[in-house]
Order: sequence, then C-alpha cells, then structure tokens
Amino acid sequence: MFFALMQLLLVILILPCAHTLSRDQFPPDFVFGASTSAYQVEGAANEDGRKPSVWDTFSHAGNGNMYSGDGDVACDQYHKYKEDVQLMANMSLEAYRFSISWSRLIPDGSGQVNPKGVQYYNNLINELISHGIQPHVTLIHWDLPQTLEDEYGGWVSRRIVKDFTAYADVCFREFGDRVKYWTTVNEANVYAVFGYDIGMFPPQRCSPSSLFNCSRGNSSTEPYLVAHHMLLAHASTARLYRKKYQGFQNGFIGFNLLPFGLLPKTDTINDLKATLRMQDFYIGWFMKPFTFGDYPDIMKKNVGSRLPSFTQKESNLVKGSIDFLGINFYYSFYVKNKVSTLQEKNRDYWEDMAVEIERINQKGISKDEVPVTPKILQGLLHSMKNAYGNIPIYIHENGQQTPQNSSLDDWPRVKFLHKYIESFVDALRDGLNIKGYFVWSFLDAFELIRGYEASFGLYYVDKSDPNLRRQAKLSAEWYSNFLKMKPMDP
Ligand code: NOJ
Repeated sequence: MFFALMQLLLVILILPCAHTLSRDQFPPDFVFGASTSAYQVEGAANEDGRKPSVWDTFSHAGNGNMYSGDGDVACDQYHKYKEDVQLMANMSLEAYRFSISWSRLIPDGSGQVNPKGVQYYNNLINELISHGIQPHVTLIHWDLPQTLEDEYGGWVSRRIVKDFTAYADVCFREFGDRVKYWTTVNEANVYAVFGYDIGMFPPQRCSPSSLFNCSRGNSSTEPYLVAHHMLLAHASTARLYRKKYQGFQNGFIGFNLLPFGLLPKTDTINDLKATLRMQDFYIGWFMKPFTFGDYPDIMKKNVGSRLPSFTQKESNLVKGSIDFLGINFYYSFYVKNKVSTLQEKNRDYWEDMAVEIERINQKGISKDEVPVTPKILQGLLHSMKNAYGNIPIYIHENGQQTPQNSSLDDWPRVKFLHKYIESFVDALRDGLNIKGYFVWSFLDAFELIRGYEASFGLYYVDKSDPNLRRQAKLSAEWYSNFLKMKPMDP
C-alpha cells in the first residue's frame, strides 16, 4: 500500500515535468531564432545615402491605408544594432533573421553601391557572429527601391530579373563569407496578391473594384506576371550563387512563402476540390515550378493565356533552384467552393481560384489574436512533403499579436510559443524536415498592416522614450529560459 501511494505521488510529481519543454529535446543543428525586416525595424530612412523604397512612398502617402505611421524611425535598429545584438545574446538566441534594405545598399536599385550601406550590414553581421548568432538574410522583404518602380514598373517588368540578380551578387560578394542562409523573396505569394491584386500593399496595383484606395494596374494579369518574375529572379540568383560562390562560401539559397492552413468547409467533393485548388493557387503556384518546372494544371486551366509560361530553359533553371523553403505561418481558413460567373478575360486571381474563405478562429481569443493551431500547421507540412518532397523547412515567422502598450506579462504569446514549439518535437519524430524556428518578431516593429497599433515583439519598444528603450516581455524571458534549458511552464 505504502509503495503504491509512493508510486502515485511520483507520477503526480514527475508527469508535469515530462511535459516541460526544453531546447535539448531538439537536435543541436535545429536553430532557434527571431525575425525582423529592414523597413520594419531599421529606421534611418533618410540617412547615409539610403533612398526610398516603395514602402516609404506608401506609408507617407496617407491615402487611407489601414495603418498609421511609417518606418522613418521604426525601432532605430540602424543605430541600436549593438544593443539589440546584446539583447539577443543575453537571451541565448541562436539566429537572427533580418532583411537587407536594397535601397540602402544600392539606393537606385541598380548601379552605384552605397559604401555606408555595405558598412552597416558588415557591422550588423560581424556583431551577430562575434556573439555566436547565425545571420539568416532575406534579400527582399517587399521594399523594392522606388527608382525601379518609377523607371520600369518594378516586378511587372522582366528587367527586374537582371537587377535583382545583380543586387544579390553584391550581397554574396560583400557578406557571403559570413552569411550562409539566404532567402531571396519574403512571402512571394502575399507580395504578388496584396501588391498587385488586392492593392493593399505597395505598389498598390489592383482592379478598380478593389476595396482599397487604388485603381492602377491590371489584376487579371499582373499577380501572375510578378510571381513569374519572382520565380525567374530567384532562379537566376540561385544559379549565380551556385556557379560563382557556393564552391567556397558553402551557403544555401531559399525562398519564402506564407501558406494558410486550409480545411474544407464541408466534406462535399466540391469543397474538397476547392481546398486543393486554393492550395495549388497559393503554394503550388511557386512550389510546383520549384519541384517540377511548371505551374499547377488547375492554374493553367483556370487562368488560361493570362498565366505566363516557362520556356524549356527557364523551366530547367527554376526546377530544383531552392535549397530550403521558409514558411511564415499565422492563419487558417475554411474553404468553400465558389462558381465564378465572370468571363475568363475579366477574372482576377480570386475569381480564377474560385473559392470563398472563412477564417478559423479559436474559442476564447480575441479577433486580433492569432489562433493557436499547431496541428493544422503539421497537417499542412505533411501535405507539402507529400506534394513537393522532403525539402528542408525553416519556420521563418510565427508569432502572436497583442495590442501595442499591452502588459509586459504577455501570457498569450508565451502560450502560443510553447504550443507551437512543443508541436515540433512530434513533427520531427514524424519525419518532417524542419530545420529551424524563428519567432516573429524580435522587437515590436512597424507592422505592415496595423503600423504601431499592434505588436508581435518579444521586446517592447517604448515609443515615448527618445531612446526607444527596449523592455523584455515575459515571452522573451520564457524563450530565453527554454533556450538555456531552464524551462518554465506557461
Ligand atoms: C508577415 C510579414 O513577413 C511581416 O512583415 C509581418 O510583419 C508579419 N507577417 C506579421 O503581420
């Protein structure tokens, strides 16, 4: 009896600890980091030779966009990078994902390289490396130099392929001895749809019927055209890297997409087909070319001649051009079939896709919070593995949104991170090839939809303080304890 009681006591005491999450449950080469992007944190928008990007123009236009503010100062990481890297080091962050501002490095997008830009990124990279933090660099996080937009329409023109490759060449030449993980384009699918169909993001090209304040562009063709150019720009950059640098720099070239978790609204065949169709339009759009050298059949069928096609040479170039895929994961949707009544030539991306979507929410959380759905992410990763092979995956962004100036005791974020990170233990055991996880974001940044009204940061940035003081939230402490293997349960 006594022994039975002792056993029960042990179970009660030990079981909760068995669920305690700690870094040593992951392989040593799995990397844990945090993410930001240039326009969202750097500031110093008009300093040291930087010229505007399309995001500077957009956020200054004050044309009824959904958010307030701009990235002129943002978190001022341009001046405070040393302090920020010290914070990262204190919390034992293993990697930092940031983007290079193309218009800081090559202010007009092509031609003259800005030595001050080279110096800034050298300083940041050296600072990271001297603290043992791996730099993971994105080449474009949507902030195209305005000059290229004005000169030839940016991504709408095929000229972008050459200019992007030349920009990447400068980055590899200047920083590639220390940077081993390069991502060419952030959320290429969002960039194409939000910038060229919905018109919510710069360069705000869209159809006249868009809800947003824009009327330029041609949403029947442009999302497809810019995506095509992004694929070619990526592939041409990967070829350049493999030929000219990989032999001695030994790095990897990846691409980044934002998939949604998608579930059919009902189990009717039409909704099941609609879900697969949306997956093909959103992810297959890029992953099928990377895996098989061509667009999904359903896109060819529904988009017809408005979908660009690859020459044999281009197809060979694009196929196999990614070493890893970066995934940003936030929201999930129920998908319902929709019948388009528009003629083919008048349809846009959403009409071509022919679905209706409804956001999947979670009981007990506000509409601004990101639902915690790690199981849906796992399902998505398994379906992607089946469709495109077991390519290395980095979760480049995942994080919880809380209102700006909310409490530093950000329990919702702690719980969010705990649930997702915990799910990766199973995911790895189930054979998913996940190589790393980055929290969005390291700091309360300038959010691309809600400006400074919303925050995703592990660190609060006090906007009322002239020094933009950073303060650790509870989530920073939790993540740090997890990394230091001193876990604390949420
Ligand atoms: C994805 C984008 O890459 C990033 O810039 C943005 O801030 C986050 N989503 C959160 O909305």
